[in-house]
Amino acid sequence: MGRILSGIQPTGNLHLGNYLGAIRNWVTLQNSHENLFCIVDLHALTTLPDPKDMQTWTREVTAAYIAAGINPDQSIIFVQSAVAAHSELAWIFSCLTPLGWLNRMTQFKDKTGKNSEQANLGLYAYPVLMAADILIYKATHVPVGEDQKQHLELARDIAGVFNRQYNVDYFHLPEFFSLKVAARVMSLRDGTSKMSKSDPSDYSRIHVMDDPDTIALKIRKAKTDPDPLASTPHAMENRPEALNLLGIYAALANISLEDACRMFEGASFSGLKQKLTDQLIATLDPIRKKMIDLLKESTYLDHILKEGSLKASEIATKNMNDIKNIVGFLKT
Ligand code: ADP
Ligand code: TRP
Repeated sequence: MGRILSGIQPTGNLHLGNYLGAIRNWVTLQNSHENLFCIVDLHALTTLPDPKDMQTWTREVTAAYIAAGINPDQSIIFVQSAVAAHSELAWIFSCLTPLGWLNRMTQFKDKTGKNSEQANLGLYAYPVLMAADILIYKATHVPVGEDQKQHLELARDIAGVFNRQYNVDYFHLPEFFSLKVAARVMSLRDGTSKMSKSDPSDYSRIHVMDDPDTIALKIRKAKTDPDPLASTPHAMENRPEALNLLGIYAALANISLEDACRMFEGASFSGLKQKLTDQLIATLDPIRKKMIDLLKESTYLDHILKEGSLKASEIATKNMNDIKNIVGFLKT
């Protein structure tokens, strides 16, 4: 049985991409693996959120995990900052990671653009901390969306450099894990950019907490093109909005993109949008309702997180002691 680790930042606006690209897959992995699901608040700090919002969003992500089907009796749900070993290992990894590797990270370039001189060190070192999150638990599989693949590759490289530097076989290389359908959900306003929490337009994404009327409105307003839908993904190669809506439908209906294309061949966008709205509401509304109930029980949520961080700390502290020994820190 492998060990799974994944995480989401508490930065608000939890959306359909987070659900389909991450959380939903975690639920299906629960029975076959040992699982740790983290709320990565140290990563969120790179955007300096208001402290009150950070607390609200941390509970919101916790509620979303549970409402979507992560069972706290079966999986460890915890807050990253509650386990000090993440930061300690990140420092050790910082000393092993060449700047050249970090300079290749596309997410940093996308997020900072021409303003990279003003960006904070935390944002630059973000993938090193992510490597520490994964490796401190010696996770074997990391289920994340396609957008995080490069960061996972860096984590594998860092594991390798650590082993070589200290001539040990301590870290094993964690595997990327993704489902093909909807591994990348795109913006509803622009089919070439990913659905993201930080897009200024609320109409670019469906929030996990959107009510049915809001979902219907956002899908009605979603960008389309003038042609009827074609029978294969290949025939719609240059129609990113059409492919995105079909991809979301396929993911929700648990069918392949090819089958979704066949199903809607020749249909107008309005036909697809109606069916898609129904699917979205059927999937998200029960989750939204459970989240509303859970968010009223903040003591329950905090209790889950406390229990989770105790269990996570137990694993992390043991591994951290080994690592400190390997790098030569004197035990005092
Ligand atoms: P965001 O990218 O919206 O800021 P996070 O960085 O916190 O969200 O991502 C949390 C998880 O959700 C990661 O596993 C990431 O791969 C996944 N994810 C985020 N956006 C998408 C998307 N548009 N499509 C698929 N998965 C996504
Ligand atoms: N960087 C991830 C994202 O933006 C979040 C994350 C942080 C993560 N640490 C992780 C994901 C460890 C998986 C494993 O989506």
